[in-house]
Amino acid sequence: MTQNNTAKLELGDKQIELPVVVGSENEHAVDITRLRSETGYITLDSGFGNTGSCQSAITYIDGEKGILRYRGIPIEQLAQQSTFVETAQLLIYGELPTADQTRRFSDLLSQHQRLHERVYKHFANFPSESHPMAVLSSMINAVSCHHPDILEMEDEHTFDSAAARLISKVRTIAAGAFKTAHGEPITYPRTDLPYVRNFLHMMFSLPYDDYDPDDDVVNALRLFLILHADHEQNCSTSTVRMVASSGANLFASCAAGVCALWGPAHGGANMAVLKMLTEIHDQQIPYKDYMERVKQKEFRLMGFGHRVYKNFDPRAKILKQAADKILPKLGINDPLLDIAKGLEEVALKDDYFISRNLYPNVDFYSGIILRAIGVPINMFTVMFAVGRMPGWIAQWKEQVDSKGRIFRPRQIYTGANERDYVPVAQR
Ligand code: CMC
Repeated sequence: MTQNNTAKLELGDKQIELPVVVGSENEHAVDITRLRSETGYITLDSGFGNTGSCQSAITYIDGEKGILRYRGIPIEQLAQQSTFVETAQLLIYGELPTADQTRRFSDLLSQHQRLHERVYKHFANFPSESHPMAVLSSMINAVSCHHPDILEMEDEHTFDSAAARLISKVRTIAAGAFKTAHGEPITYPRTDLPYVRNFLHMMFSLPYDDYDPDDDVVNALRLFLILHADHEQNCSTSTVRMVASSGANLFASCAAGVCALWGPAHGGANMAVLKMLTEIHDQQIPYKDYMERVKQKEFRLMGFGHRVYKNFDPRAKILKQAADKILPKLGINDPLLDIAKGLEEVALKDDYFISRNLYPNVDFYSGIILRAIGVPINMFTVMFAVGRMPGWIAQWKEQVDSKGRIFRPRQIYTGANERDYVPVAQR
């Protein structure tokens, strides 16, 4: 970060100079920290579309050029060559790990993969129709109750152990939520399986039937998790950092992130896309008719549009190519993939979408891949959360290490002016 010039701002008869901050990719920001104390004004930026809430060295996005990099490394390279565990270490610790560092981190993941027996019992107390995102967020806090030592986070060693616990256990919880919702016995993790295979084992093995996934299935889930691992200051990550800024522990902050991710404008969009494609398929709705209703703003085309990407979402590109490869390899001919491609084709030629820079985002094709590997629709956002956990942990640590102030936005009050209380009998 450099500070090489200033911005001048005139407000009535006052003029102030504000520092300009420049990032390592030449992004510019006007630092308004002193604005209110020197002028009495605040800035107003509904939805924070124009507000930098922090300086971060984790993930870089260029929305105009469709660039996404974790710690400087293009997402395309990680998608092709990395493992999810290695990508998690890259995000959290800043560098690609050596083989020895990965071995040690993987050992920690294995060591912490089981839940406390009492935590397993919680699953039985949720109604079977519970949303798995509700189960996931509650269980992350429940897990932390059994490890009071890691809540204090006094040294690097405790952080490593807490980070590994969370990355490992979130997958065990996700699989437990899935099993509970489907009335199946919980499958315990195995120490001999790597991360993604172990996750699939906990999801799909039964006491009398071990699930041995095809390499293509393992690879599809690896890809999904890597592509979701971080995305700078989106809604859930900003939530994690906001909660962290109050001094809250890693588990509480990430449980809050899960809740923020749940909404259909954010991570919940992957479920919404599949519901939309299924509706179009089952009711045989012509694309043009559906698109007309979108353009009339009756509803949004789910999986389209992005606050930052105004050209294309590189993750969607990778996932579309992956769907094209993986489905035939698994012998699946999914009509929903054809519908998604048909909608995309119509949208990319339509002025409504072109003029608003609306392109497919990560959620447009991800659900088709999850469906192909047997993940039911209500688990889609949970899978996103499992993938996003390393990013949340990295962002939590960066926030805590920055020793920054508590996040506390201001507002412009538009309510009633001072008035007297009226006793109920006189109202
Ligand atoms: N379908 C139809 N119109 C849209 C869509 C869409 N998916 N997205 C935006 N628009 C229109 C919107 O109506 C507005 O039109 P106008 O200028 O006429 O009022 C214009 O485009 C700008 O929309 P916005 O709401 O100001 O854009 P935003 O940056 O606040 O919202 C978004 C970004 C992702 C929430 C939005 O595009 C959206 O709701 N998309 C559908 C849900 C979705 O796919 N979410 C996943 C996002 S990516 C993964 C993640 O974050 O988890």
